[in-house]
Amino acid sequence: MEKRTLGKDLEVSAIGLGCMGMSHGYGEARDKNKMIALIRKAHELDVTFFDTAECYGPYINEELVGEALEPIRNEVKIATKFGIQLKDFKQTLDSSPVTIRKSVEGSLRRLRTDHIDLYYQHRVDKNTPIEEVAETVAQLVKEGKVLHWGMSEAGVSNIRRAHAVLPLTAIQSEYSMFWREPEQKLLGTLEELGIGLVPFSPLGKGFLTGSITKDAKFGANDFCSTVPRFSQENIEANMVIVDLVKSIAERKHVTPAQVALSWLKAQRPFIVSIPGSRSLKHLTDNIAAAEVVYTEKEMRDINEALDSITLQGNHYSAEAQKNIDR
Ligand SMILES: NC(=O)c1ccc[n+]([C@@H]2O[C@H](COP(=O)([O-])OP(=O)(O)OC[C@H]3O[C@@H](n4cnc5c(N)ncnc54)[C@H](OP(=O)(O)O)[C@@H]3O)[C@@H](O)[C@H]2O)c1
Repeated sequence: MEKRTLGKDLEVSAIGLGCMGMSHGYGEARDKNKMIALIRKAHELDVTFFDTAECYGPYINEELVGEALEPIRNEVKIATKFGIQLKDFKQTLDSSPVTIRKSVEGSLRRLRTDHIDLYYQHRVDKNTPIEEVAETVAQLVKEGKVLHWGMSEAGVSNIRRAHAVLPLTAIQSEYSMFWREPEQKLLGTLEELGIGLVPFSPLGKGFLTGSITKDAKFGANDFCSTVPRFSQENIEANMVIVDLVKSIAERKHVTPAQVALSWLKAQRPFIVSIPGSRSLKHLTDNIAAAEVVYTEKEMRDINEALDSITLQGNHYSAEAQKNIDR
């Protein structure tokens, strides 16, 4: 697969793998051995960029990723995140230096490695100035425990402040045909500063593929149950974008997931999305998206069609929205 560079020098496959859903956020954790086999298969298929976080599980997702990648550690890049303590689906933000230091040791142990390739602050912590966070991570870089750093769902003001202390390699943010807010300020800022963008939920949590229908029933441990965009009424209203993606897919002789991922890849050369998948069928489908290209006219037409659609409902619950830095 084609490679892309995040920031100055973090080279990864143009499409990575989001591992969260294997043990967190989308219902019950899946069978560990099957997920280990899937992660290793992704590597065989040329994926070299794997995404996890301390709070996924908590902890069991890092353990899974660590076990899966241990035999091929030097051939892959691992991204993980600090700064969210999770209990009963309730987030507490803590990026104090003492907590970051504790977190990094735990992540290194669970990931069975002596270095983290990309260490993100998962959410901006209003109680810890971002300069203090950057200085703490800078110390971890000096110690060789962290090679690059990033932030997740950070606003441009904090990104600039953080980057001035310790250059950022990537920002992780929700971005897809289903959520295009990053086009307003974030993309231009990252382009100017030379920082990569790692869009999460690039398939709109599966919605863009057509797999979420108006009769969808989400369990209590499926975070889709908290997303206003996925109320029954809003799912029905938002089907208009699924119809658009499907019509593009038919014209291009590809799948809807491939349209969603290749559209993102085409937006900027410094974008590397991390679709989440727990099946080999979906994984191979997503990897093949790296080959799909568009003419300028095709992209103009698609973006005009997207502009004409107004989607209903926020992509975060009111509770989760409070932790988003804008
Ligand atoms: N920084 C943050 O705050 C944050 C937040 C959320 C997520 N993330 C990261 O981003 C990654 C991806 O996001 P996400 O998992 O929320 O959303 P996503 O990638 O947009 O969607 C995942 C959903 O799409 C389905 N899917 C995947 N490939 C498909 C295909 N080819 N055809 C049909 N359905 C397909 C998956 O089902 P199957 O599993 O059955 O394939 C799953 O239900 C996560 O794993 C995590 O690492 C980060």
